Amino acid sequence: MSLAPAQFAQLNRLIDLQLEVFPEHRGFLTKRFADSDAAHLDFCEQLSGNVFKIAGSDIRRIVEDYRWLSDMVLEEELFFRREGRYRLSKFSDALEQVYANTPFMAKYMNGLLASQLWWRNHTEVLRYFRDGFLPGNRQGFTHLEVGPGHGLFLGLAAAAPNGASAEGWDISAASLENTRAALSAMGASAGIALKEVNIFTAPEGQFDSITFSEVLEHLEEPLAALKILRGLLKPGGRIFVNAPVNSPAPDHLYLFRTPEEVRDMVAAAGFEIVDTLYAPPSGAGLDKARRQELSISAAVIAKKSS
Ligand SMILES: C[S@@+](CC[C@H](N)C(=O)[O-])C[C@H]1O[C@@H](n2cnc3c(N)ncnc32)[C@H](O)[C@@H]1O
Repeated sequence: MSLAPAQFAQLNRLIDLQLEVFPEHRGFLTKRFADSDAAHLDFCEQLSGNVFKIAGSDIRRIVEDYRWLSDMVLEEELFFRREGRYRLSKFSDALEQVYANTPFMAKYMNGLLASQLWWRNHTEVLRYFRDGFLPGNRQGFTHLEVGPGHGLFLGLAAAAPNGASAEGWDISAASLENTRAALSAMGASAGIALKEVNIFTAPEGQFDSITFSEVLEHLEEPLAALKILRGLLKPGGRIFVNAPVNSPAPDHLYLFRTPEEVRDMVAAAGFEIVDTLYAPPSGAGLDKARRQELSISAAVIAKKSS
């Protein structure tokens, strides 16, 4: 039986493909979509269309890699629950084990692509980015994303009617390759420069808008990175920061324990906080997620004062 109403055809098709390779996930996905309203499902339908475009004939690999990602995250979760910390704490280890490991990184980004739909918090944050962040940028804004990964945020920024230009920086050549292919499949690659850059040795630049999504927790010194990003914004420019709390993964180094810790770090870097969205995971409300220390996405929209 379909998990979403019949008019959401691409979403239902993607769910069916996912369940073919991961039948044990039916209960999770049933809960995930149980209380979704039409606007949320509509967004999921559009997102499914983009996932199909990005995957092309590799759609089966995407859903298989999501299964692989789920198993890997479960292992990290067991470690986290036992030890109360993330497994790695050094950037050099993450670089060696993850970012420089091309086959691993490709599977990881594929799994994360599917998670944008299957993990409700990921979907909510993407939607918040499209509807809550991008329209607030000035007409003709210039945009930078650091760590664009699967490319969905950068694709949305490049398609914003008020945008003029967009570029992406990432420390991982393998990840950039993924971004390049995704943007091209979405028809959004024209004029988007993708550069291999470590944010701590970033070149000069001046942008109206920056996305920094799911990168902060990958760093040993997240506050220092936010200060660098502030330096890359024009006065009055806006930043979209998104970081998960209590979210173990093979390359997560910095443990945020509450969404407020993310917000407060953005403020400590000198930004003025404009708005926040704290999105609990599939199947839990925010109170339960806080009580049980589940993974919560903390999205923060902030501004550099003029
Ligand atoms: C989990 S992905 C984020 C993908 C996407 N932005 C999202 O929200 O799902 C993290 C990305 O950050 C990149 N990254 C990690 N440390 C970095 C650094 N110091 N400078 C630039 N990119 C970095 C990784 O290579 C990876 O592509």
